[in-house]
Amino acid sequence: MKNRPRRLRTGATLRKMVRETRMDKSSLIYPLFVREGNGVEEEIGTMPGQFRYSVDRMPYKLEALVKAGVSKVMFFGIPDHKDACGSGAYAQDGIVQKAFQKAKETFPDMYLIGDVCMCEYTSHGHCGILRGDYVDNDKTLEYLAKIALSQVQAGADMVAPSDMMDGRIQAIRSLLDENGYLETPIMSYAVKYASAFYGPFRDAAGSAPAFGDRKSYQMDYHNRREALKEALLDVEEGADILMVKPALSYLDVISQVKEATNVPVAAYGVSGEYAMVKAGAALGYIDEDAIVCEMATSVYRAGADIFLTYFAEKIAGFMDEGRIG
Ligand code: PBG
Repeated sequence: MKNRPRRLRTGATLRKMVRETRMDKSSLIYPLFVREGNGVEEEIGTMPGQFRYSVDRMPYKLEALVKAGVSKVMFFGIPDHKDACGSGAYAQDGIVQKAFQKAKETFPDMYLIGDVCMCEYTSHGHCGILRGDYVDNDKTLEYLAKIALSQVQAGADMVAPSDMMDGRIQAIRSLLDENGYLETPIMSYAVKYASAFYGPFRDAAGSAPAFGDRKSYQMDYHNRREALKEALLDVEEGADILMVKPALSYLDVISQVKEATNVPVAAYGVSGEYAMVKAGAALGYIDEDAIVCEMATSVYRAGADIFLTYFAEKIAGFMDEGRIG
């Protein structure tokens, strides 16, 4: 036998030398929920180990993240009051705006990203303005742009629209540019599937649609070529980074988007992915740490340059230990 693939697996040093996937803490983004109130640090029932923080408590979490080497955060706001047009999403003293101000003040070196969407802020739980029972695409665009602008004005370094309306990248880019924010990047949730994996998030954010589902705007998970259509359109409209979401069941899509475009690709390991690992580990069925390492690596191996994950702190620790990376 001339070829013995096992030769390169004989010891840890060698195995590490020939690793094909390299990753780094600088590519991790942690999603964080902020809510109204004072002194609140409320564990999310379906996401053990994840919390909703009031703005005064949130800096303690930021401190822990910085300590772990995670310097990027994506903010989700949970308002006290919701209405039909999600006005809390673009209010100057809205929950997420207050969070950006506080974060900039307390941790000026952290990189702050805003999830731009309406579902946490609308009384009906849909990601846009309704006309009858249907989400009105073009009407929603002006709101999304307004939300993005208000987040940037409050201190967001980057905005990430997750609504899946057509044309929103262009709408947001135009309004940011008109207001002088030429250098603020947009990370588009370009390829976002209608997924049961968002279940725990909707519980966390109280954002489940009051009727119907999101299938008229989020993508059908049977489709792969359509992912390219969405990705290429968003690049054309000015998206700086493309995201695929969820991550684990969509590794083929991550690979494809990576090959077909020349912008950085992000993947979001969503709430359901987190919840499944936590539940399986709590039952003693799986080894949480080992599974988290393997899942994270697979996302990078598929082609992701950036990984949004509730496990960010943990993964950063594994990278420090040299367990992965
Ligand atoms: C807002 C939004 C959602 C998620 C990110 N942004 C929920 C949804 O689309 O229903 C899901 C994140 C997660 O499940 O961790 N539209």
